[in-house]
Amino acid sequence: MNWKAAVLTVSDRSSRGERPDEGGPLISALLQDAGYEVLRTAIVPDEQAEIARFLREWADIGEVQLILTTGGTGFAPRDVTPEATCSVCQRMTPGIPEAMRAASLAITPRAMLSRAAAGIRGGTLIVNLPGSPKAAKENLEAVLPTLGHGLQMLSGEAADCAKLTD
Ligand code: MTE
Repeated sequence: MNWKAAVLTVSDRSSRGERPDEGGPLISALLQDAGYEVLRTAIVPDEQAEIARFLREWADIGEVQLILTTGGTGFAPRDVTPEATCSVCQRMTPGIPEAMRAASLAITPRAMLSRAAAGIRGGTLIVNLPGSPKAAKENLEAVLPTLGHGLQMLSGEAADCAKLTD
């Protein structure tokens, strides 16, 4: 299955054109290397309503099975990406951020500061990644090989959980 994805960069400064978006293109490249087709990308400020609007629209159009966000998962007052994600998801998938934090803790203790969330809206899985390109890459690489199995189950295809391929 050739999965289709979208990448949402959440950053006040990048949305104002004050800082180039490095995380979004890096995530798109990692997805493409893994065989995903990236159909949509956008940059939004750290505004919960705006983030939620993109997530809702992209999920409800139904053309992508995976949405990755980057940024806004820390403790800064304007970091609200997890709240936006939780507000649009019908079912949360806590194992994905748990796996990202477990892998990341082996790299830096600061991984414990991630508030990233992940969940399902309709037929779309939404996963939060941190904002720094290095951290986003480390987190994505921790879960990307396993996401396809989840997407297969989400699509309603018979997925054999007994097969230990990923
Ligand atoms: N995870 C990995 N793998 N590497 C990192 O450098 N940085 C952490 C954490 N997760 C980091 C990481 C830090 S310092 C923060 S504040 C949170 O991700 C949230 O990042 P964000 O606010 O840019 O979304």
